[in-house]
Amino acid sequence: MSTATLLQTSFPDLQLVRRGKVRDVYAVDNDHFLIVATDRISAFDCVLPTPIRRKGEVLTALSQFWFDKLSDVVPNHMVTTDLQEMTSIVQRQSDELNGRSMMVKRADVFPVECVVRGYLSGSGWKDYLRTGEVCGHKLPAGLQESAELPEPVFTPATKAEEGHDENITEEQVREILGDETTRFLRDTSLRLYREAKDYALGRGIIIADTKFEFGRDQDGKIILVDEVLTPDSSRFWPQDSYSPGKSQPSFDKQFVRDYLETLDWDKQPPAPAIPPEIAEATTARYLEAYKLITGRDL
Ligand SMILES: Nc1ncnc2c1ncn2[C@@H]1O[C@H](COP(=O)(O)OP(=O)(O)OP(=O)(O)O)[C@@H](O)[C@H]1O
Ligand SMILES: [Mg+2]
Repeated sequence: MSTATLLQTSFPDLQLVRRGKVRDVYAVDNDHFLIVATDRISAFDCVLPTPIRRKGEVLTALSQFWFDKLSDVVPNHMVTTDLQEMTSIVQRQSDELNGRSMMVKRADVFPVECVVRGYLSGSGWKDYLRTGEVCGHKLPAGLQESAELPEPVFTPATKAEEGHDENITEEQVREILGDETTRFLRDTSLRLYREAKDYALGRGIIIADTKFEFGRDQDGKIILVDEVLTPDSSRFWPQDSYSPGKSQPSFDKQFVRDYLETLDWDKQPPAPAIPPEIAEATTARYLEAYKLITGRDL
């Protein structure tokens, strides 16, 4: 484990495929990508200049945990998080990368975010208020914000390069991916979510919703890719304070958001720094989420 924080990676010898808000993705060879989870954190869609110590490690270890746990539902892209098993180019920067890097099978990623919602929040709540529906699912009238839905629903979205993803209906996914693939992605996403949600509920965390990505591997087989069931790809709520009728505190980002709300910041980049005690308290939340879910200290 490295105690240093990491805001950005750079590998002169590897091709950078993409720098996301949190993760840096490199091409290792024709068949593999290296996904590095940095300690960057975003709030209100802006990346903050302050790193969150150990965040990248938590994201990586949680994804690894879920990939293992859910591998009987669908195969995934994970090859290894062990630097010793990666190429020498990667090993040369082992201090930076240890614990926060996944080598994965490269896939042809479907251009659809496979969102599943078990609770009514975020854009789902907004759509429901406007139309009584979320992505074509008619929901019972009179639901409160953050209410648990009668059944989890598949609420896909487009994968926007910039800006916000747009919610679409299953019918629209069918137009993009065809009937068979759409059905498979929907059923698999729902199965993954149900299993994870039930598991986490017994451990003090509500997974209100989550986003999966899938792709085809070199053999044309559909696999689960990206990160899975981390606080960055999901809404985690503390179960002990859950109370519908309002928005819920985020398990991991609440201190950051609360602090930023005290400032006179217009929520446009550049985002302001956060004080060390807020950053440390946030680290503690990530470690706590990891411990609750896995039963182990990281
Ligand atoms: N096995 C894979 N093969 C090919 N691409 C993959 C694979 N796994 C994940 N990806 C892609 O890697 C990219 C990860 O970058 P992304 O921009 O999502 O980073 P991020 O840190 O999550 O940032 P953001 O918050 O902006 O989403 C995504 O485009 C995802 O589709
Ligand atoms: Mg992403």
